[in-house]
Amino acid sequence: MNAARRTRLDQLPEWHALAKHREEFGGTHLRELFAMDVRRAERYGVQVGDLHLDFSKHLVTDDTLRLLGELAVATGVESLRDAMFDGERINVTEDRAVLHTALRTPVSAVVATDGENVVPKVHSVLTKMGLFAAKVRDGLWRGHTGKRIRNVVNIGIGGSDLGPKMAFEALRPYTRRDMNFRFVSNVDGADLHEAVRDLDPSETLFVVASKTFTTIETITNATAARSWLLAGLGGAEEAVARHFVAVSTNAVKVSEFGIDTENMFEFWDWVGGRYSYDSAIGLSLMVAVGADHFNEMLAGFHLVDEHFRTAPIESNAPMLMGLLGVWYGNFFDAQSHAVLPYSHYFSQFTAYLQQLDMESNGKSAQRDGGPVNWQTGPVVWGTPGTNGQHAYYQLLHQGTKMIPADLVGIARPVDGLGELADQHDLLMANLFAQGQALAFGKTEEEVRAEGVPEEQVPHRTFPGNRPTTTILASELSPAVLGQLVALYEHKVFVQGAVWDIDSFDQWGVELGKVLAKRLEPALTDGAAVDGLDASTRSLVGRYRELRGR
Ligand code: F6P
Repeated sequence: MNAARRTRLDQLPEWHALAKHREEFGGTHLRELFAMDVRRAERYGVQVGDLHLDFSKHLVTDDTLRLLGELAVATGVESLRDAMFDGERINVTEDRAVLHTALRTPVSAVVATDGENVVPKVHSVLTKMGLFAAKVRDGLWRGHTGKRIRNVVNIGIGGSDLGPKMAFEALRPYTRRDMNFRFVSNVDGADLHEAVRDLDPSETLFVVASKTFTTIETITNATAARSWLLAGLGGAEEAVARHFVAVSTNAVKVSEFGIDTENMFEFWDWVGGRYSYDSAIGLSLMVAVGADHFNEMLAGFHLVDEHFRTAPIESNAPMLMGLLGVWYGNFFDAQSHAVLPYSHYFSQFTAYLQQLDMESNGKSAQRDGGPVNWQTGPVVWGTPGTNGQHAYYQLLHQGTKMIPADLVGIARPVDGLGELADQHDLLMANLFAQGQALAFGKTEEEVRAEGVPEEQVPHRTFPGNRPTTTILASELSPAVLGQLVALYEHKVFVQGAVWDIDSFDQWGVELGKVLAKRLEPALTDGAAVDGLDASTRSLVGRYRELRGR
């Protein structure tokens, strides 16, 4: 599918209407907006599955939301969404369909691309994964020496690492606590070293996860892992079959690496790397949590897919999340977006979202190749609360930058915390307090009324008016995790559609890869590299000196 030429975003009357509205909006304060409408929290709340989204602490009125909705219509967000669900090749620069939503459709559904219903093969791989996961969990899949598998090491990077790792951490309470699960991604040898140093090779299974099976980090680490295994098992080549499985779209490369394609779990080129952890890329996660929990997670994804596909824009949660990001990024010059989960189990959630969002929407060419003349994807960042409160929240509250934030909370603590579950109210009180402080701040008058000396008043005043979405989930379950991730996937989609960029390619990662490959011999052997700039040449020289070469 070639990208149809679209009216440039900045030439649309809907875009100009928003710019005018922004001028009129001026410095309207959330304090005023709440004072004007006692039902604001109720009216700007959306329930999707087990998630409640409170959009009331945003710098918007009904007019803003109407105008943003009109922009979505004018930019064809809904038709592009439908084209995605229908298996059209909306990834124009790679000429591919974008069908991660098919990974979580029920078996009875029909999702076709290029005339083929892909649902049967999705479910056939899920079944194969389920059987394998059960064998490993039940001790029926044995290592070369007959020992049961106690350690699973996922080797992958980017989408082949961040998703399974994030979900493993999030669903830790559902995982097999009598097994070790580790994730190796960095080409820094220290990553693999630390992951395997205390493991027994005879009890260790490596899941080599790579869509392309050509990614240098993954192949390097997998090769090293193979040597580690063989060294530990007396060099028996046949051990590889019992200790290595692969997840890939590339059977030829898997076979060339020496992994029997019988032990390969397939996915397809219509699944983007950063949209893939609900495919076979989630194999190590499935071993950790079991097929039933994995399937519950898929159902959670599907629930939000259906919501995104069918709900009207004004009550469509991913649409609203995406459009609010456009509002701040394009009309308030917000450069970044913080995602602040109030759950220890979400330690990797924002790191996962960084790839999802920034690799998708960090683009500056329109789908038809023309340059964009507007801001695109934000810098996404954040760490779990309450830790961030004692580090960088100062800037959120009193700094000069506008940073819209998502505060993600889980109402019920996980089972098994015992008396520690009592701390949950304090955790959640902090989340709610942050939203409150960011929105309403503390006025000079309020500070003075506390008897604060006049010279300190400016330092102790909080301007407020800093927008947040609060996402409140009922519990941290596999279904809720699926719902949350799908929410963000579709939010990213909406923004890419409005900005008219291809959210599904990642050409921007290529140059660095090529240059690193070209430079490596210079570091190792001092080989000359043509056309090297003076700075890099000098750095390479210093590096070699420090390495004693
Ligand atoms: O370099 C970027 C990237 O292509 C990501 O998009 C992808 O998730 C990651 O590398 C890993 O790729 P693969 O799964 O093919 O090893």
